[in-house]
Amino acid sequence: MRIAVAGGTGMLGSAASAALEARGHDVRVLSRHSAFPVDLSTGEGLTAALEGCDVVVDASNGRSAKAARAVLVDGSRRLLEAETAAGVAHHVVISIVGCDRVPSFAYYQAKVAQEGVVRSGSVPWTILRATQFHPFLDALFSNAARLGIRPSAAVPVAPVDVRDVADTIADVVEEGPVVGEAGGRTLQVVGPEVTTLRDLGRIRTALTGRGRAPVRIPLWGGALRAASGGALVDESADFRGVRTYEAWLKETSAKAARP
Ligand SMILES: NC(=O)c1ccc[n+]([C@@H]2O[C@H](COP(=O)([O-])OP(=O)(O)OC[C@H]3O[C@@H](n4cnc5c(N)ncnc54)[C@H](OP(=O)(O)O)[C@@H]3O)[C@@H](O)[C@H]2O)c1
Repeated sequence: MRIAVAGGTGMLGSAASAALEARGHDVRVLSRHSAFPVDLSTGEGLTAALEGCDVVVDASNGRSAKAARAVLVDGSRRLLEAETAAGVAHHVVISIVGCDRVPSFAYYQAKVAQEGVVRSGSVPWTILRATQFHPFLDALFSNAARLGIRPSAAVPVAPVDVRDVADTIADVVEEGPVVGEAGGRTLQVVGPEVTTLRDLGRIRTALTGRGRAPVRIPLWGGALRAASGGALVDESADFRGVRTYEAWLKETSAKAARP
């Protein structure tokens, strides 16, 4: 298949592009800085980039609340409009497990709105919700470790390896859309185990020696309360990754130590 990966230069997008290429597909990497330049916040470049594509995987991102609206929500509208014109048969978008259960977080509001745009569009769709990626949670700890501390809230999480999500994307693409009455389906991919931020912090400190002072995150705000109540994990997932945070951390540390 010819597959366009929007956000194909990003953390997940580059892994998804590699996984799809490894299975013999013709992959087009779309981003503002790629061979197929597109800007989802304006729609520029989309018509040319999608010509002849069978599937679109949307792994784009906008990290601030404003960028999330422009790229994820309005960008999805622009992307789907261009897909309809190009005759794309399957739109696969990456969302977040529990984004609808943490409504007070602006970025998650944008993810819920993005899902809504995809569900109401006319291109057959798959929404693949994933839990937090290892490097994302690790950045939380490494930023805190610079101050010698580690966040130690008992927030349940099920971190997943980006390569496991990428393989799942390739499976979903090859399986094709399941249209039904809704026009598509929502699936979930999670990490191999449910743990807590507190336990991940302990593992990181034991391995790296950094961030020795545990600091309790006060449970203020709806977002943290919802996350502490288990909003970010789901035991009934459709796909389960195999690589743990600890294994990823050991692999990453070994790579960094190599001369
Ligand atoms: N990180 C996590 O833990 C996590 C967990 C679950 C789900 N997700 C979801 O996974 C998706 C990918 O996340 P990520 O962390 O891999 O993202 P990322 O590394 O920040 O990559 C973002 C990608 O989007 C592209 N992009 C940004 N603005 C653009 C624009 N205006 N037009 C076109 N392309 C644009 C970037 O390329 P250019 O800068 O070259 O344009 C880049 O390729 C997101 O939807 C996120 O919500 C992430």
